[in-house]
Amino acid sequence: MNVPVRMISETASPDAALIDDWHVIAFSKDVPAGKVVAATLLGEDLILWRDASGKLHVWKDLCIHRGARLSKGWIANDTVVCPYHGWRYDGSAKCVLVPAAPDQPPPLKARAFPHLAEERYGMVWASLGEPKHPVPTFPEWDDVSFRKFNTGPYFFKANGFRSVENFIDATHFPFVHRGLNGVEDAPDKVEDYKVFEDENGISTSGIRVFQPYGDHRQVPVNATYTYRVFRPLVAYFSKQVEIADRDKRHFGGPDDRFCTFLTAQPVDEVNCIIRLCVAINFGENLNEEDIQRRQDMVFSQDKDIVETQRPERIPVDLRAEIHHRTDKFGVAYRRWLGALGLTYGTA
Ligand code: FES
Ligand SMILES: [Fe+2]
Repeated sequence: MNVPVRMISETASPDAALIDDWHVIAFSKDVPAGKVVAATLLGEDLILWRDASGKLHVWKDLCIHRGARLSKGWIANDTVVCPYHGWRYDGSAKCVLVPAAPDQPPPLKARAFPHLAEERYGMVWASLGEPKHPVPTFPEWDDVSFRKFNTGPYFFKANGFRSVENFIDATHFPFVHRGLNGVEDAPDKVEDYKVFEDENGISTSGIRVFQPYGDHRQVPVNATYTYRVFRPLVAYFSKQVEIADRDKRHFGGPDDRFCTFLTAQPVDEVNCIIRLCVAINFGENLNEEDIQRRQDMVFSQDKDIVETQRPERIPVDLRAEIHHRTDKFGVAYRRWLGALGLTYGTA
């Protein structure tokens, strides 16, 4: 699951604010019964597996016997089998069999190292500590008028915070997504907007732009974005899309919205994996591939740029880099990260 990655020059320990939070580390569909899946979160190697009851488990990728990787093991009899000496661990993380001494109960200390895990929005959420906040609410998830699609994973050899900041930035559209989300020769002037902060994070008022291929219908739209950052690595937009051509406007409705819930898995300080849940309440004839195609295109364009940014870690000291009035939400994000006391993945 985790693709070879950019090397880290020196490593910091993850801050409590990240340890005690939920992070997405897989799509639920990528962890079928009978499979041991590897993942890395904040530099820690993990395994994911599903027991016969369907319950998902996230453990450290380590066998306590001789330190072998459980991710090289397999599932048998509803247990994870270590690939080295075949010790078996059940869903309660207890070792239930030492094959070389099958008649003796295994040592009580022989246990796997479980972490908290939850499944929401087709995604697996895990925490290496004790989460201080619940998994963020995806506002459209329970609204049946919206169809939902998981897209990704997108492997970014880039810092998770830089990747989130890119997602909440409306001024890169005409250049990074020319012909899709903006027009290079006629970039939108971004009017001033408001930024709010509450217990659910930070958000903006509406930001209006013209987009030649702003949603999956492939028609020009006037789009109004409302952004939100729920957690340091979980962000969202709700985009109201109005078909720009008056003669074609009746193909859409005034309440058409395209919403995206984005999660960045911090593999380490300079690598992340983006996973999305997209919700749309228009275009019944659009299929999974139509949605996937546009999402893949947009995120490969973002990846291309975000992977080049230097320094790799996001500067939270506002004296580094230059901030323009039109970077208001990015600045609010950096301030907010700084106020959380984050050092891991920041410069
Ligand atoms: S290292 Fe896992 S069984 Fe020996
Ligand atoms: Fe982008």
